[in-house]
Amino acid sequence: MSDQVKMTALKYDSTRPKAKNPIKIMDLSLRDGHQSLFATRGRTEDMIPVAEMMDDIGFWAIETWGGATFDTMHRFLNEDPWERLRTLKRYIKKTPFSMLLRAQNLVGYRNYADDLAFAFVDRAAENGMDVFRTFDALNDYRNFETVVKQIKKSGKHFQGCICYTLTEPRLGGEVYNLDYYIKKAKDLESMGADSICIKDMAGLIAPYDAYALVKALKEAVKAPIHLHSHFTSGMSPMSHLKAIEAGVDIIDTCMTPYAYRTSHAALEPLVMALLGTNRDTGFDIKKLAAINEILEKEILPKYKHLLDDSKVSIIDINVLLHQTPGGMLSNLVNQLREMDALDKIDEVYKELPRVRKDLGQIPLVTPTSQIVGVQTVNNVLHDTPDERYKMITGQVKDLCFGLYGKTAVPINAELQKKALKGYPRGETPITCRPAEVLAPELEKAKAEIGDLAVDFDDLILYAIYPVTGKKFLEWKYGKAEVPASVKPITMEEVKRKDEIIKKAKAGLLVEKKTTAPPKSDRVRTFNVFVDNEHFSVDVDPTGDAPVVSVPKAAAPVAAAAVAAPAAAAPSAAVAAPAAPAVHTGPGTLLLAPMPGMIVKYEKNIGDKVSKGDTIVVLEAMKMENALSAPCDGTIQATNFKSGDNVAKGAALCVIG
Ligand code: CO
Repeated sequence: MSDQVKMTALKYDSTRPKAKNPIKIMDLSLRDGHQSLFATRGRTEDMIPVAEMMDDIGFWAIETWGGATFDTMHRFLNEDPWERLRTLKRYIKKTPFSMLLRAQNLVGYRNYADDLAFAFVDRAAENGMDVFRTFDALNDYRNFETVVKQIKKSGKHFQGCICYTLTEPRLGGEVYNLDYYIKKAKDLESMGADSICIKDMAGLIAPYDAYALVKALKEAVKAPIHLHSHFTSGMSPMSHLKAIEAGVDIIDTCMTPYAYRTSHAALEPLVMALLGTNRDTGFDIKKLAAINEILEKEILPKYKHLLDDSKVSIIDINVLLHQTPGGMLSNLVNQLREMDALDKIDEVYKELPRVRKDLGQIPLVTPTSQIVGVQTVNNVLHDTPDERYKMITGQVKDLCFGLYGKTAVPINAELQKKALKGYPRGETPITCRPAEVLAPELEKAKAEIGDLAVDFDDLILYAIYPVTGKKFLEWKYGKAEVPASVKPITMEEVKRKDEIIKKAKAGLLVEKKTTAPPKSDRVRTFNVFVDNEHFSVDVDPTGDAPVVSVPKAAAPVAAAAVAAPAAAAPSAAVAAPAAPAVHTGPGTLLLAPMPGMIVKYEKNIGDKVSKGDTIVVLEAMKMENALSAPCDGTIQATNFKSGDNVAKGAALCVIG
C-alpha cells in the first residue's frame, strides 16, 4: 500500500498513472443497493438514465439481477424480469452483468428440481447474464452441482460464494472458524470456481478478520477473491481497506445514493482513499459524480418513501449483537407490526439464537433468514409454557427433512421428530443431495399454466412462482386488469406530494369545503392518532371493491381457529382485496392466524374433514403455513381463492 506514485501526477480523471494491481470493483446499485434500501422496488425505467454512464466507469461487473429482483418485479412492479436483462444489455454493452443465484433455490425460496434449475440458468445466460454469483444458504455445495454444470456449459463465469457467519462475536470458535472457510474455498476451487466470494450478508466481518481471512484464502486457492460485505454494522469500509491490504481482488460497492444503512459502502470514498496507491481503481471521479447527480435528483426522490427513516442512525448496532442481516431484521419488525405484537421484539431477539441453534446453527441468509425468522416469531406468538414449536412452518419441516441440504451441526433431534410427524415425504430425513428426491417440475407446470405461458421464460417464471407468476402473466397478456398498486409513480406526483408536505409543515394547509357524497352502508370509522391527538375518521370505499367481513367476536383472536357463530353482523371489516361472498350460515370458522396470501385450499366445499386435516396453505412472510381443521365436519364455505391476500382474523373457511 505504501507504493505511492508522485502526488503531482494525480488527477481525478482516468489519465492518472495506472496502478500496479488495481482493485476491481463490482457495482451493486442496480440490485443489492435498491434491494437493501428500497425493498427491491427499483424499476428498469429508472436504471436506463445512468446505464450508459455506468458502462463507462470500468467496473469489473455490474450486478443487475437475482436475489429478490425476480420475485419483486413480477409481483409488485408488473415488470417482466427477463425483459430487464435484455433492456439493460442494450445500454450496458462493455461491462459484464452479474446475478445472485441461490444455487438450487434459483431465485426462489426452496430447492427446485434439476430440470427447472438447468432451464433457468440456460435462459438467464441466453438473456444476457455473464457472472453467476452462486450461493447456498447452508454452504452445502451439493446444491451447486446442477447449476454449475449449466453455467459451465453456457460458457459463463462461475463465482462460488461462502456465506460468512459466526459462532462467536469474532471469527473463530467452534463451527465457523478459519479452517471452515479455507475448506469451503478449496471445495469451490475443485468445483471449478472462476472466482470465490466471501458473502458477508449481515456485515459481520471485522476488519482484522477480513485481513486474516483474505490472506489465508489467497494462500489456499488460486481463484480471485471477492468480498461482499454489507454496511449494516458500520464496519465494512474498514474491512474493505484491510481486505485490500491483504490482497483481495474484487470489492463490492454502491453508488452513493444507494449506499450505507443495510446496503453497501459507497464507491466514491474508496476511489479517493486508494488514489495514487498501487491498488488505485483508476476510476474517473467526475464521471461518478455525474451519475450521482442524476440518481440524487431525478431517480431517488421516487423511492425515498420506501427508505426506513424511522431511525436517525445509519448503523444498526443490533446486527453486531444478534447477527441478523438487515433485511431479516426489517422483516421481523414488519411481521410483528402486522400481528400487533411489536412489543415482543426483545423476546424475538432472545428466541432467535435458540431457533438457529435448534436448526443446526445455519447461516442466516435467504432463505434461511426467513425460515429462522418466521419460525422465531411463530414460537414467540404461539408457543405455550408446556409446548414449544406449536406452529411449525412448511419450510422448517422441509429443512428438518433435509430438503435444503446438510446443516453445519445436526438439527435438534426432538424438534426434527416433531416436525416430521406426518410429513408427506416420510418421517425419516434424507442424507442425499436434496434435488435427487425432487420430481421434474417443468412438464407439470406446463400442463397447469397451458397457453398463458407463451414462451419458455414465462413458463420458468410460473414454475418458480406459481401463484404470483400466474397473476403476472394475466396482467402481461391483458387477461386481467393491472392494479394501480403495481404502477410506477412519476416525478410530478413526487413533486405534488412534496408541495403538500411543505405546505402542511408551514401551517398553510387549509381544509377545502366540498359537497360530500352521501355515506354508504360500507362506511367504517377509524381512530387516527397524531402526536397523541385523536381524530375520528370515516372511511367509505369508492368503486365496487369488495370488502371482506369478519365476525366481530373472531377478529382479535390469535389462535388458528375458534368456534364462533358465523352470522354475526359484518363489522370492523378488513380491506383485503377480491373476496367472494362470505358464508353466513352457522359453523366453526378457520381464521387466519396472521396476515398473508392464500396459496391453495387443500379441501373444497362439500369435502368431509377430520380435526387436524390441512384445509388451506397460507403464505406469510414468504413461508408456507398449513392451517388445519379445528373440528370434524363438512366444508360449508371457502371464502377466498388462491392468490388472495387476507388479513389476520379473516374467516378462511366454515366447517359445519
Ligand atoms: Co448482499
